[in-house]
Amino acid sequence: MKLWSKGFEPDKMIEEFTVGNDRELDLKLARYDVMGSMAHIRMLESIGLLSGDELKSLLEALEDIAAIIERGEFTIEPGIEDVHSQVEFMLTQRLGDTGKKIHSGRSRNDQVLVDLKLFIRDELKTTSQSIKHLFDRLQLLSEKHKDALMPGYTHLQIAMPSSFGLWFGAYAEALVDDMQMIAAAYSIANQNPLGSAAGYGSSFPLNRTMTTELLGFETMHYNVVAAQMSRGKTERAAGMAIAAVASTLGRFAMDVCMWMCQNFAFISFPDELTTGSSIMPHKKNPDVFEIMRGKCNRLQSIPNEIALLTANLPLGYNRDLQLLKDIIFPAFSELRSCLDMCDFMLSHIKVKENILDDPKYDYLFTVEDVNRLALGGMPFREAYRTVGMQVQNGEYVPTRSVSHTHEGSIGNLCNAQIAAKMETVMDKMS
Ligand code: ARG
Repeated sequence: MKLWSKGFEPDKMIEEFTVGNDRELDLKLARYDVMGSMAHIRMLESIGLLSGDELKSLLEALEDIAAIIERGEFTIEPGIEDVHSQVEFMLTQRLGDTGKKIHSGRSRNDQVLVDLKLFIRDELKTTSQSIKHLFDRLQLLSEKHKDALMPGYTHLQIAMPSSFGLWFGAYAEALVDDMQMIAAAYSIANQNPLGSAAGYGSSFPLNRTMTTELLGFETMHYNVVAAQMSRGKTERAAGMAIAAVASTLGRFAMDVCMWMCQNFAFISFPDELTTGSSIMPHKKNPDVFEIMRGKCNRLQSIPNEIALLTANLPLGYNRDLQLLKDIIFPAFSELRSCLDMCDFMLSHIKVKENILDDPKYDYLFTVEDVNRLALGGMPFREAYRTVGMQVQNGEYVPTRSVSHTHEGSIGNLCNAQIAAKMETVMDKMS
């Protein structure tokens, strides 16, 4: 029986097609649905739509349902459309007519919105912790290997000296920018849509400020239509943040695959963290980072998928919006599994020392030698030509000494300043 039943049941095929896998996805929303309902009924009591006794018994019943959810025993029964209907059904089973009063002044449209805001807010917070762990790991490795030089490339051609300190530290700092996106998405999710009801408010004298405070939202979506429009926009902002992190991580995974290749051999991992081949007995493959690269590339399509799903929808609720859950829910866990796996792998990374002693890297030092001549008083262009001609005539002998001192260079990584930037960004989510 549906909440909206008026004496006929919809065709089975129609039900299956429209509900799809929503029952399964909605399980993730259950605890937030109960939180939203608790705030809603407290507010209803405060405006005289529920008695003190009714509030008390409804709160007790909701606590009971919350405990069932926490124990992992909550299910959405066959024939019940979604989590919102299931919670209301359970309340009515327990409390009869009192259970039926809970829906005054709200609609499933703002109910699902409030659930999603609370869910996305939490998921972003948890994701930010995984990002921070990886950030800390990268910074640690950057400091540990700050003196281990490696080649820097442009056009994939040997360019200038780089270092493991610079490489690890670069990805740490890139994650700070990604964290800005996470914090922005968090702030967009941190607004109360409850009270927008079906999308056009209610003639009940709802106290939306009260539910905003009860649910710990930073502010509310004031305009009820804007509140409804935030479905899709909230997911898209979160999706953009996920894609930003995924682009950093996917690129890092590519570096790792390349540096593990025997032609570079800059890094390695213990055998048990590599994978083998069914035909080539010597293989120790970087499958972990290949899967990570692939997953991260896929995650970068999330904002695009959301944009296509929501483009030009008419104002107000449309059922298409339900499909957003399919896109965004698995994306959070997928990204976190990549972040956590990367952190784990990096806790075992082995870095090769003295890479630059190999003569094939001699030309990395040409700019150092040009600069040395220029610092000695020779005009830069002349110094450039002098070293250039040595290279051209096969007479170049590198001095092999490197001295970079400016901020952010191999000799002055500024990891502490980067950590401070990360703290500032993360404070926005506390
Ligand atoms: N499962 C629905 C969704 O995610 C809940 C809202 C249903 N609202 C409606 N008017 N049919 O969007």
